[in-house]
Amino acid sequence: MNTAIRLPIVCEAVAATRAVPSLWDDVARGLFSTPRHLPAKYFYDERGSQLFDQICNVPEYYPTRTENALLAEVAGDIIARAMPASIIELGSGMSRKTHHLLEACARQDCYASYAPFDVCDEVLLLAGERLMHEFPWLTVQPLSGDYSAGLARLPRRSERNLVAFLGGTIGNFSASESHAFLSELRAFMGPDDRLLLGADRVKRPEALHAAYNDFAGVTAEFNRNVLRVINHELGADFDLERYAHYAYFNPLESQIEMHLVAMAPQRVKFAVNDAVLELREGDTIRTEISRKFTRSSLEAMVCDAGFAVERHYESRAPAFSLVLARPV
Ligand code: SAH
Ligand code: AVI
Repeated sequence: MNTAIRLPIVCEAVAATRAVPSLWDDVARGLFSTPRHLPAKYFYDERGSQLFDQICNVPEYYPTRTENALLAEVAGDIIARAMPASIIELGSGMSRKTHHLLEACARQDCYASYAPFDVCDEVLLLAGERLMHEFPWLTVQPLSGDYSAGLARLPRRSERNLVAFLGGTIGNFSASESHAFLSELRAFMGPDDRLLLGADRVKRPEALHAAYNDFAGVTAEFNRNVLRVINHELGADFDLERYAHYAYFNPLESQIEMHLVAMAPQRVKFAVNDAVLELREGDTIRTEISRKFTRSSLEAMVCDAGFAVERHYESRAPAFSLVLARPV
């Protein structure tokens, strides 16, 4: 337990274990080929992270409040089983749900440290400061990096890590990406570590559709933010007003697909490499997938990556899952 006066927290960079494409590489590969697509990680600059935080509060977006309520119910059981010395949270964002785990830790005299890992430094610091204020005993060690660059160099500060990946973010990976990601996580984990994975479940298409097409238009703003990031980082001149947000549930793939649709012919110039992107009216850019699982497809994904399911907690409707798994 640490109650000493503390210095402001700083982010520690996690070294990449493999090279990842630069934004320009991803744009060159994803926008100058068909179907056009972009990796979802580029949504999350400071503004994008704030917009995601707002999405979590729109009435139609059920995943956050559903997972939050489920975690409030089961955090005690999770901590009793994992008894972590350290909680590592991947894609932690504002770490809003984490306080249920930390409260359960305190109730069980299990004073774990907390290492949130995210690509957005601003949210890491904001969330870390807030949690340290809320839990004076807590040591927060924010880890800054891109999990697609590998997990092998994540610091292992104890032999009992609870690795949390919440929010349903695993659904933003394709089936092959999630298999590679979970397998890499499995390789990082020791025998006494536990994985806590949050995943969204298939449900009525109307409910899914509403969640990604909120009335207030926050998701649309979030979607367009990726063009703002590209404008800023690559000196491009996307006119955001000319792209419509379009998100629908594809039942064959069991995934939400989020697109930006050009509402008129566009000629987009990039300062980088003097490139020009021509789009016709109606051309689309796929900016995100969000896969929705069944109980069995979720467990199969976890087990195929080398884990055994210890507990599978489910919410009442709308369906959302938290899986606690151990390496085998
Ligand atoms: N876990 C939080 C936030 C989910 S939003 C919740 O449940 O509410 C997804 C988070 O993953 C964002 O904070 C984003 O910055 C982070 N993220 C996205 N791609 C990432 C990557 N490649 N590496 C690290 N973090 C990433
Ligand atoms: C972060 N991730 C789980 C969110 C999701 O639901 O797929 C991102 C999001 N996209 C639109 N709304 C929320």
